[in-house]
Amino acid sequence: MHVSSTLAYLSFFTSLATALPDAHGKPKPPFFALAGDSTTATQSAGGGGWGDGFLSTTLQKGASGKNFGHNGATTVSFRAGGDWANVITAVKSASDKYDPYVTIQFGHNDQKPDKNISMADLIANLVALVEEVRAVSATPILVTSLSRRTYNASGLVVENLADVTAATKAAAQQSGAHIIDLNRASTEYLNAIGELDAHTYNLNPTDNTHLNDEGSVVFGNLVAMLIDREVPRLRKYVKPVKSVEQALKKGDYVFPAV
Ligand SMILES: *[C@@H]1O[C@H](CO)[C@@H](O)[C@H](O)[C@H]1NC(C)=O
Ligand SMILES: *[C@@H]1O[C@H](CO)[C@@H](O)[C@H](O)[C@H]1NC(C)=O
Repeated sequence: MHVSSTLAYLSFFTSLATALPDAHGKPKPPFFALAGDSTTATQSAGGGGWGDGFLSTTLQKGASGKNFGHNGATTVSFRAGGDWANVITAVKSASDKYDPYVTIQFGHNDQKPDKNISMADLIANLVALVEEVRAVSATPILVTSLSRRTYNASGLVVENLADVTAATKAAAQQSGAHIIDLNRASTEYLNAIGELDAHTYNLNPTDNTHLNDEGSVVFGNLVAMLIDREVPRLRKYVKPVKSVEQALKKGDYVFPAV
C-alpha cells in the first residue's frame, strides 16, 4: 500500500459532506437506466463493467434499473446504433411507477484516435445526452470513466483517461448535471490495494479494462457510494453492501462472494 495515495484516498471519503434530503414530490422509487460502454455493460465474452453489480447488490425499497451498456460504444455509436433511443423509451415507460435516473459514462472508446471524436465533440455529445434526459423528466448523472488496471513502474495506476475525464467534468459544468468522479475514486482504490489484488477483478487474466462478476460488485458498490454522496435523496434506495463499503472506504482489498 502506498502511503501518499492511501492518505489521498482516505481524505477523499472522509470529506464526504452529509446533506439533507431534497424536498421531492411523490415518493416513487428510482429507476436507473445505465448508459455507457463496456465498462458499464453486463459481463460477456467481450466486456463487462460495474452496472450489473450496482443493480443487483445495492438497490432497495422498490428501486430498479436496467443496464444499457454496450461494448465498444462511443457517444456517437450509442446514438447511431439505437441504444440511446432504447434508454429514452425505457425511461418514459418507467416514469409511471418510478423516478427515473440515467447514468451516462463514455470515454474509453471516444478517446481512440480512429473514432475521430475530439474532446470538444465529446463534451457537446454528453451535454446533448443530458438535455435529452431532462426533456423526458428524468435526472441525468454523468460518470467519469472507470480506471484501467494498468500500473507503471512505481506501482501506481497509469492515468490514461485524463482527457475524457476532463471532458465529462466540462459537460457537467456546462449543463449543471450531477456528476460522480468514478475515475478518481476507482484510481485511488486501485492504488490503495495494489496491482496484484487489482488484477483479480479482471474479466480474464490479460484484460485490465473489463471486470468479472466480483469486480462488478466492488465497483458497482463504489458507484453506489458516489451516487449517495452526490444525490442524497437516493440514500434510502441505494445502499452499498456493508462489508464492501467498509473495504472501499478503508482502501482494503475485498473479493465479494457472488
Ligand atoms: C474527422 O472529423 C472531422 C470533424 O468532424 C472531419 O472534418 C474529418 O473529415 C474526419 N476525418 C475522418 C478521417 O473521418
Ligand atoms: C506512475 O504514475 C504516477 C501517477 O500518474 C506518477 O506520479 C509517477 O511518476 C509514475 N511513475 C513512473 C515511473 O512513470
